[in-house]
Amino acid sequence: MRVLLTAVVLSAGAMLAQPVPAADVAAGETKFKQLCGTCHGPTGKGDGPASAALNPQPRDLSSAEWQNEVDDAHIRTVIADGGAAVGLSPIMTAFGHALSDEDLDNLVAYIRSLDD
Ligand code: HEC
Repeated sequence: MRVLLTAVVLSAGAMLAQPVPAADVAAGETKFKQLCGTCHGPTGKGDGPASAALNPQPRDLSSAEWQNEVDDAHIRTVIADGGAAVGLSPIMTAFGHALSDEDLDNLVAYIRSLDD
């Protein structure tokens, strides 16, 4: 009985210790290259094949200055609801219809992983 109880307590503890699934930076990178790279460049530097023709041009997302200015909620809103939702250009279109919550988490995590 005592052994059984210990086993139950231990396995409950193990379940509690399961980490919340972390966002997947590699999956975010894959999505970014598929959906965003044309304008933002493959690594978010703002040097995609289409970026020269854009006005405004997308900023360098790896800039530490910008990274410090914005929170994750801002980045997520821009991606899901488009630039216009936060007072930026509507050329940055909304991708919410094409992305799951998980995709959005992964994209935010990928963008956060970029630095100079
Ligand atoms: C059609 C070109 C285009 C595509 C495709 C595009 N973006 Fe953008 N994005 C822009 C432009 C242009 C801006 C700059 C808007 C401004 O500064 O007013 C921008 C801005 C941003 C910003 C910066 C917001 C800020 O605070 O300055 C983020 C983050 C972003 N885009 C993420 C993404 C992600 C993630 C994807 C893919 C799911 C994506 N974009 C796809 C054109 C694009």
